[in-house]
Amino acid sequence: MTTIGIMGGGQLGRMLALAGYPLGLHFRFIDPVAGEAPVDALGERVRGDYTDPAALEQFAAGADVVTYEFENVPVAAAQQLAARLPVYPPPAALEASQDRLREKSFFREQGIPTPPFLAVNTREELDAAIKEIGLPAVLKTRRMGYDGKGQALLRAQEDIAPAWEALQGNDLILEGFVAFDREVSILAARSTTGEIAYYPLVQNKHRDGILRRSIAPAPDTAPELQALAQSYAARVVEALNYVGLLAIELFQVGETLIANEMAPRVHNSGHWTIEGAETSQFENHLRAILGLPLGSTAPRGHIAMLNIIGTLPETPAVLAIPNAHLHLYDKAPRPARKLGHVTLRCDDAETFEERLAALKPLVPRD
Ligand SMILES: Nc1ncnc2c1ncn2[C@@H]1O[C@H](COP(=O)(O)OP(=O)(O)O)[C@@H](O)[C@H]1O
Ligand SMILES: [Mg+2]
Repeated sequence: MTTIGIMGGGQLGRMLALAGYPLGLHFRFIDPVAGEAPVDALGERVRGDYTDPAALEQFAAGADVVTYEFENVPVAAAQQLAARLPVYPPPAALEASQDRLREKSFFREQGIPTPPFLAVNTREELDAAIKEIGLPAVLKTRRMGYDGKGQALLRAQEDIAPAWEALQGNDLILEGFVAFDREVSILAARSTTGEIAYYPLVQNKHRDGILRRSIAPAPDTAPELQALAQSYAARVVEALNYVGLLAIELFQVGETLIANEMAPRVHNSGHWTIEGAETSQFENHLRAILGLPLGSTAPRGHIAMLNIIGTLPETPAVLAIPNAHLHLYDKAPRPARKLGHVTLRCDDAETFEERLAALKPLVPRD
């Protein structure tokens, strides 16, 4: 019996376990959240803090390999566990992605383009950074930001003071605003054996900093663009001796790609792979960390993924659409909260467009 220990008890952990049970795997979790967590139906959860050595010990006992489903796991906790059992992705990947300044510096070292960026710790540094980078720009906290939280868009001079007011006290980064044609992401899985598999580029639509919809494969993608994205992902996974699934969010400008951020874990822009790819990102993450052969990443037709945010749709209405698949995460509705997603998968483009048009109004706009 192989047991995977997952740090984090959210929907990504839930979908990892759902992908792993058919392979005969067992799962245990650690997450401090009081009340219910999305993983609770899928295995034992140690309800302890990641920084509590006794809780970590209890979690690790009985686990053969440890992984995580969110990137803000304290690096020290991952390192503590790595001293006694395999922990994938390597804690160094957590370190590289938890701090936006380190992350962008790392991309730059790998020759991967990024927006211009500068560290900002004081109001004087902010003014100097704006002078150098120009407006529009985005001011972000270096750590702990997600779903657009902890960032402010600076369009004009009058946006500066309120943004500083809201974010000061944190270590910050100022980035040039990229007037992108679209946002895409590349997902790659690298196994302990060094084998790498790449998914087709995904086109992502965000609103208020939250992913709303993905289309896969990203329409009108030149093979050269796919190859460019893969080459960037290859540099990242090789440099970090990475194991597991990695996602890189990119801005497309013309036929160039600019790296926004990376996630050392399965990613929301890969949820379409559950029905839409020969092998899902969740299964390939598990195969990768167990050193098993990676599965085909080939897409199965035309695929859309719609996030369910804030309000639940009517289940029967969604399921009445042929080719629609509903995933609910067992979370109580709350504004701006990711509660689930719907995947639509069709063999031909015409049916896809028709059914997508029927599906869109059924998923409430938060
Ligand atoms: N420098 C930028 N230029 C243009 N848009 C940006 C920039 N930074 C962030 N955004 C927009 O905000 C979204 C969320 O920002 P991101 O840095 O990915 O933070 P999070 O960790 O919250 O996902 C991006 O997907 C993009 O739509
Ligand atoms: Mg992002």
